[in-house]
Amino acid sequence: MSRTPIIAANWKMNMGPQEAKEFLSAFKEEKLCECKGVEKVIVPPFVTIPAVMEALNGCQCIGVGAQDVSDHDNGAFTGEISTAMLSEIGCKYVVVGHSERRQYHGETNTYINKKIKKALAAGLVPIYCIGETLAQREAGELEKILRSQVEEGLAGLSDEQVAGLVIAYEPVWAIGTGKTASATDAQAAHAFIRSVVKETFGTDAADKVRIQYGGSVKPANASELMACPDIDGALVGGAALKAASFAAIIRAAAI
Ligand code: PGA
Repeated sequence: MSRTPIIAANWKMNMGPQEAKEFLSAFKEEKLCECKGVEKVIVPPFVTIPAVMEALNGCQCIGVGAQDVSDHDNGAFTGEISTAMLSEIGCKYVVVGHSERRQYHGETNTYINKKIKKALAAGLVPIYCIGETLAQREAGELEKILRSQVEEGLAGLSDEQVAGLVIAYEPVWAIGTGKTASATDAQAAHAFIRSVVKETFGTDAADKVRIQYGGSVKPANASELMACPDIDGALVGGAALKAASFAAIIRAAAI
């Protein structure tokens, strides 16, 4: 089964509109529109999204996503952003359930499931983040945690919906720490996640769903990770803040 790898830049709470414009002018110099066979996505902070759209100037080779979304349609939810608002400004993707949202904002699988359903209903592609903490891995709970994140986070979705979304496996201990999972460990976790998808949503969904790896991905380790059969791209934080290193990771996935 050939799946198109997807490389996404998760800028987190970095890059205001001006910095984003500077990034994109440097990124254009990398001539990545000619780099075929890789889906490229930038996920800026909400307020930076319009500046990214403007700088892209209609260029279709890079998609834009948001870092989070409300589980409600509209109304009295101060500080929240709806799926309709994201669609209106041209977003195609939305990251949900990032470990920083789980850790600092108490987001649970059940709550994230509601956001995934809202995103799908609005035609957005959810990038659903899952992954274990170091304590969970050391306690031998890796598979138990991943299984519950997949089963609860994707509960109630159709096989087709699961086939079309993106899962990002991000071991929490590897995020922003410089510690990457070895390619062997990452591949094993990805294969396990795919097997859980297969049990619940069938072979077709398991074959089609793309599973990104995230956690200290950089140009130096991207090729090895991207060569693994069940790794279909990367969700990149720190190394996506510089156009040259993000471009190098994209090229590693294209090979
Ligand atoms: P990192 O972040 O690449 O800086 O480890 C990845 C992420 O949190 O998505």
